[in-house]
Amino acid sequence: MHHFDPSTEIQDYLVFGEYGDVNPSITDSSTYTFLSPEKMKELFDHEVEGCFLYSRHWNPTNKYLADALARLEDSEAAIVTGSGMAAIVCSVLQVCSAGDELISSRTIYGGTYAFFKNLLPRFGINVKFVNTTDLDAVKKAITKKTKIIYCESVSNPLLEIADLPKLSEIANDHNIKLMVDNTFSPVFISPIHLGAHIVIHSLTKFINGTSDLRVVYAAAEISLIK
Ligand SMILES: Cc1ncc(COP(=O)(O)O)c(C=O)c1O
Repeated sequence: MHHFDPSTEIQDYLVFGEYGDVNPSITDSSTYTFLSPEKMKELFDHEVEGCFLYSRHWNPTNKYLADALARLEDSEAAIVTGSGMAAIVCSVLQVCSAGDELISSRTIYGGTYAFFKNLLPRFGINVKFVNTTDLDAVKKAITKKTKIIYCESVSNPLLEIADLPKLSEIANDHNIKLMVDNTFSPVFISPIHLGAHIVIHSLTKFINGTSDLRVVYAAAEISLIK
């Protein structure tokens, strides 16, 4: 059986710059040229390797980072956003619409709690906060409207550990997405291997090593559905 090792995946990810530089080149264009209208049409229809349209959607610099994050989490793909909170908001709103429900662990980062408690109800999305270490409580909270079970693999600030394989089993039984914030445990917990469907990171924390990451790479990952 293939043993997945996130640190090897990252170590083996070699991206060179435009002129063979040892680091990838940083691109600063807001938009991209097309030498033929057909290529542009192709890109509107689907992603084309090596082609970009508009920097806010995708650009080579954030794609290097996204590809590295996808390798780290062994996810099919990843998307980078301007912050961890942006990743959480985009992920939840991608899956939930008005009338849907989300089950969240009660021990989550304060910004996420505020978004769930104060803002999601304004979009018609109901959030139930439960003790996600109590698997019966999770099961009892599920209704036909539940779309997401949300937790942090190691929670901020209480360091509560989520039983991801069990939560994933419950989610799969009900066709629900298990969304996991892996900010506190990059490399040593791989949630997708434990059954998560979507993984999120705030990159300003341990993944950077020393919490000194600023603007350029203040990004976060949304690993797409497996
Ligand atoms: C576990 C966790 N998730 C998400 C966030 C939000 O990330 P950001 O500050 O990058 O928006 C934080 C920030 O402290 C966090 O600790």
